[in-house]
Amino acid sequence: MRAASPVFHDDQSGSWHVFRYDDVQRVLSEHATFSSRMGGGNPSGSGQLFASSLITADPPRHRQLRSLVTQAFTPKAVDALAPRIAELTDELLAGIEATGSADLIKELAYPLPVIVISELMGIPAEDRERFKHWSDVIVSQTQAGPGNGKDDATTAEMIEYFLALIAQRRSQPGEDLISSLLSAEIDGQRLTVPELLGFCSLLLVAGNETTTNLIGNAVLCLAESPGTLERLLKEPALIPQALEEVLRFRSPVQSMYRVTVAEATVAGQPIPAGAPLVAWIGSANRDGQQFERAAVFDIDRSPNRHLAFGHGIHFCVGAPLARLEARIALEALLSRLPGLSVAPGAELERMESTIIYGLKALPA
Ligand code: HEM
Repeated sequence: MRAASPVFHDDQSGSWHVFRYDDVQRVLSEHATFSSRMGGGNPSGSGQLFASSLITADPPRHRQLRSLVTQAFTPKAVDALAPRIAELTDELLAGIEATGSADLIKELAYPLPVIVISELMGIPAEDRERFKHWSDVIVSQTQAGPGNGKDDATTAEMIEYFLALIAQRRSQPGEDLISSLLSAEIDGQRLTVPELLGFCSLLLVAGNETTTNLIGNAVLCLAESPGTLERLLKEPALIPQALEEVLRFRSPVQSMYRVTVAEATVAGQPIPAGAPLVAWIGSANRDGQQFERAAVFDIDRSPNRHLAFGHGIHFCVGAPLARLEARIALEALLSRLPGLSVAPGAELERMESTIIYGLKALPA
């Protein structure tokens, strides 16, 4: 598509699709032309959860909302979580070592980010399992846009849960992220309930599924590249750059949604105002105009200016946390299970989503 049809109009859905690196980077970052607000109409299903969130906000509201969470996710704040992340990883791996074989998604890549973010937000441990179900449903329903899903029952259940949690924190504030969002003020105004719901959903769903898949996709890339696995076993210091290449080569977020606020021209193609647009991050990250030998998994790639965490004002707030969790998980996996491989003959099934790229299970 990048060569033959860099900007493609899908007559059925009415969406425009953008595939080249330069164009994707521009669409993601030129917010005055390409808005993050959700498409017209009343959002249904999981769309309600994201309608008033940071990820669907434009300036000036975007900057205000973002300022409320950036403190919690600075590299310094996130580094302080490293000992706890290492401890959790050890506990999860002990379970795998005891049985000898395991589904690495179920036993490690899924629970690790969920537990970390749940602890940051003060979510009771017994409620974590419910998020797995909710986020699976929401991810499988999201097609080319945050929260276009139509599973109203799951959304209603999740909203009810968050509302109860918010009410509980209002009466008994703690040291957690939800309590600090509840007391935060922007120009003397508290966040609205839909905005609070937006934060909870973003952090609990968007952040988790993606980090799970970064860890899972990393294991898959290494299983396919035994030479790289050998190198990392000998030189664990290369793990961070290997993860950057996983982010490029198998991007956990494949696409992001925008809508044109005014008529725009992308790669010579005029696009009318009000048009829904999908920026294909996964395609940009394989663009041969930007990356030499783009189809090759190469951890020595430098510079590696992938767009896996987005670009511009919406650049992923959770990137330092995702990188840290994935690094600790991979370091522990390689040191404790050095013979790491995908179970021979295992059928690897991809998640059903046009946004999230990852495997449903990873038998190892
Ligand atoms: C935004 C990817 C992990 C929270 C984004 C965006 C991308 C992305 C592509 C940009 C969206 C846009 O331009 O519209 C990823 C990937 C992750 C990851 C690949 C893991 C490998 C996390 C984590 C958290 C998180 C762990 C939080 C716990 C957010 C938030 C935004 C965001 C709040 C919205 C930022 C804004 O609109 O200003 N992420 N993410 N993400 N991400 Fe992540």
